[in-house]
Amino acid sequence: LKVALLCGGKSAEREVSLKGGQAVAAALKKLGHQFKIFDPAKDLPLLAQETKNYNVAFLVLHGPGGEDGTIQGFLDSLGLSYQGAGVLGSALAMDKALSKILYQEAGLLVPKGLVLEKNKPLPQINFFPLVVKPVSQGSSVGISIVRTPDELDSALEAAFALEERVLVEEYLEGRELTVGILGEEALPVVEIIPGEGHTFFDYQAKYTPGVTQELCPAPIPEEIAREAQRAALAAHQALRLRHYSRTDFILVGERLYVLETNTIPGMTETSLLPLAAKVAGYPFEDLVQKLLDLALT
Ligand code: DAL
Ligand code: MG
Repeated sequence: LKVALLCGGKSAEREVSLKGGQAVAAALKKLGHQFKIFDPAKDLPLLAQETKNYNVAFLVLHGPGGEDGTIQGFLDSLGLSYQGAGVLGSALAMDKALSKILYQEAGLLVPKGLVLEKNKPLPQINFFPLVVKPVSQGSSVGISIVRTPDELDSALEAAFALEERVLVEEYLEGRELTVGILGEEALPVVEIIPGEGHTFFDYQAKYTPGVTQELCPAPIPEEIAREAQRAALAAHQALRLRHYSRTDFILVGERLYVLETNTIPGMTETSLLPLAAKVAGYPFEDLVQKLLDLALT
C-alpha cells in the first residue's frame, strides 16, 4: 500500500503525535508498505496535490485540529479514506460536554458536573474536590484538580486560556481503567496506576516511561471487566465511532463512571490501546495492518 501518514499538527499533543507517528512509520516499514509523512501544521496543501499517489491515510493526530473532525472532513473532501471516526463521531467525542449527554442517553454513568462559558457569570460551585477540564483537549492538557474554593480561580484561568467552554466535575477518587475497541470488539481492560507524586494520570505520568504502571488485563473482578467492556462498546456506538476508540473510566467501589472517549488513541511506546491490542493477540504491526484494513473496507 501507499500510505499518507499524518502526524504532528498544532495541538498541545503535538509531541505525543510525533512519537506515535515514528512508531507507526516503523511498523509500516516492517509491513512492507510505502509511506510518506505529512505534518498537518504545514503539509496539507502538499497532501491535497499528491492525494492521487496514496491508497489510504493513517492518522496519528490528537486533540483539536486532528481528532475533532476537521482533518477528517478535509480527507473526505479529497476522497482519501482513513482509519477511525468520521467527521461527526470525531467532533462529538472531542467535546467532553456533548459526549456526556450522549453517554447518559446510552444509560452510562458519568460524573456530576456543569459546563462553564468564558466571560459569563460563574454559577455557585459548592462541590469540592472537583476537576476542571477544557472541553476538548487530550492527554489531560489544561486539567486541574481543585481541592478548596481558593484554588478554583487559577484552575479556571488555566482552562479558559485554552478554550471557551470548561467542564467542572466532581472529583472521583477511584481506580483508573481504560478499554479499547478494535473493529466491533472490546479489548482487555487496562488499569492505570499513577506513580508516586501523580495524583492522577496527568500529562507527565502519561508519557514518561516508568512513571506509571499499566496492568493488562486489569486485576479486577471478571464481572466488572465485562461491564467495562460493555460500557466502552456502548460509548463507542453512542458517539457514532468506527474502527477503534478507547474509553477512559473511573471505578469507584463497583460503580463505573465514563470520563471520555479517544477517537485516535495514542500510539507511543507507553500507550494503552497498543498494550491492550497486544494482550488480545495483535502485536503493534498487526494492529496497524488491521487499522489499514478497516480504513479500506
Ligand atoms: N489523547 C491521547 C493521545 C490518548 O488518549 O492516548
Ligand atoms: Mg483523551
